[in-house]
Amino acid sequence: MPTPAAPERKAIGLAPMAATHVADVLALGHTVYDTSAKPYTPWSLSAIARHLDSEASACWVALDGERLAGFVLGSMGFDQRADWGNMEWIASAPEYQGQGVASRLVKACCATLTEAGASAVVAEVESRNTASAALMRSNGFGAGVVVTFFVRETPR
Ligand SMILES: CC(C)(COP(=O)(O)OP(=O)(O)OC[C@H]1O[C@@H](n2cnc3c(N)ncnc32)[C@H](O)[C@@H]1OP(=O)(O)O)[C@@H](O)C(=O)NCCC(=O)NCCS
Repeated sequence: MPTPAAPERKAIGLAPMAATHVADVLALGHTVYDTSAKPYTPWSLSAIARHLDSEASACWVALDGERLAGFVLGSMGFDQRADWGNMEWIASAPEYQGQGVASRLVKACCATLTEAGASAVVAEVESRNTASAALMRSNGFGAGVVVTFFVRETPR
């Protein structure tokens, strides 16, 4: 008896992020980001808009059909360096993690930033985020300056 064919799974495709993706991107970010670890960069609609609205935007989505599998938000300019690309936010939906989705998004974002004239691309990674650090290292990023977020709790 022939074995039944496994249900066909569509390949995950990449597309430039559009305004129609924003609600899903915002929701996925709220699911996966622990912003309490980085209180100086809150996740919000304006965090998305800042990159998407930028003249040199490098924002991509990974789509499984209509379903959002991941996204990356980047644009030109980092602090005082107008010639650096800033890849600030990236995420894969939990059910799509470990399948190379984020790596593909990193490559697309970096290619767009390079095309826009970036002499380097910067990504800040919180020190406990080992998955993100592994992602960056496997895509050619090396650790640059280490900034430690020193906190002095106010005694009650
Ligand atoms: C970090 C994150 C984006 C990785 O997404 P992903 O789609 O699972 O990553 P990939 O499958 O493309 O893996 C890329 C590389 O990172 C490695 N990696 C991914 N997750 C890992 C983990 N949890 N532990 C160790 N290595 C990991 C992979 O092994 C792979 O390495 P390789 O190229 O040498 O094989 C995902 O875990 C995520 O969305 N985390 C929550 C959001 C977040 O913290 N984003 C970063 C801060 S903005």
